[in-house]
Amino acid sequence: MSGPAKAAPGAAPGEPLAGRRAIVTGASRGIGAASARVLAALGARVACVARSREALAALVAELPHDAVALPADLLRAEAADLLAAGAREALGGEADVIVHAAGTFPLAPLEELTDADLDAALALHVAFPLRFVRALLPGFRTRGSGHVVLIGSVADRSVFPANAAYAATKHALRAAHEVLRAETRGSGVRMTLVSPAATDTAIWDAHDPDGAAHLPARAEMLRPEDVADAVGWAVTRPAHVDIEELRLSRS
Ligand SMILES: NC(=O)c1ccc[n+]([C@@H]2O[C@H](COP(=O)([O-])OP(=O)(O)OC[C@H]3O[C@@H](n4cnc5c(N)ncnc54)[C@H](OP(=O)(O)O)[C@@H]3O)[C@@H](O)[C@H]2O)c1
Repeated sequence: MSGPAKAAPGAAPGEPLAGRRAIVTGASRGIGAASARVLAALGARVACVARSREALAALVAELPHDAVALPADLLRAEAADLLAAGAREALGGEADVIVHAAGTFPLAPLEELTDADLDAALALHVAFPLRFVRALLPGFRTRGSGHVVLIGSVADRSVFPANAAYAATKHALRAAHEVLRAETRGSGVRMTLVSPAATDTAIWDAHDPDGAAHLPARAEMLRPEDVADAVGWAVTRPAHVDIEELRLSRS
């Protein structure tokens, strides 16, 4: 296989990912759901991962190419290996594209962050993606292809108050991305970090951004589809083109 950008023989025009398999975490809503829709529209068969079974079922019912729902709680240490195996079975083979969008946004001063907040941020932004890529890399290396897209954040480079757990773990995610790029250089495996600024999703619901002067109003945020477009663009570049990082903000 020469890489995800080359469509399968007989692929429909406009479906450069025809015949490809993708796994999207955080697919029950927001950026993950939008990314699943974009990858499916590009022709991929998508395995959609999150905890919310009903939302996943509704999404896969809407997607083309026999999308599948894989409910999973990614806080569990064994989730990455179980998901890698489950997706292989459900998709009928190794994935070509991974989008890790599952995340959490514990927006509060450190003294107000609970152990559960810290554990969730560490698990979703650091431990799970490292374990998941570790589970999939041997297959990617053997095939000489495979594309990992990690959803970072503006907070993977910038720091803001009330962001200790979020910024620390998103900085760690970016560090992991850069190390993995170095470790996979020349292998045919591609790694892209997509780092959006504030995006209008349910992740803000607990913080009432429209009512809080220090937060961006929803109307001033990116849309999840904007981020998903960037994901779709990155994974459809020719196989010799490696998009290291995309940083999105409102114009
Ligand atoms: N929205 C923004 O302003 C913004 C900006 C920059 C970066 N980001 C990043 O973009 C990514 C997606 O965020 P979003 O805005 O789309 O948030 P969202 O709408 O709240 O979606 C978060 C997703 O993560 C999943 N998830 C959370 N905990 C999980 C767990 N324990 N196991 C499995 N799945 C879990 C949720 O599904 P279930 O609840 O169904 O499990 C949901 O699908 C995150 O990494 C976030 O940090 C967002």
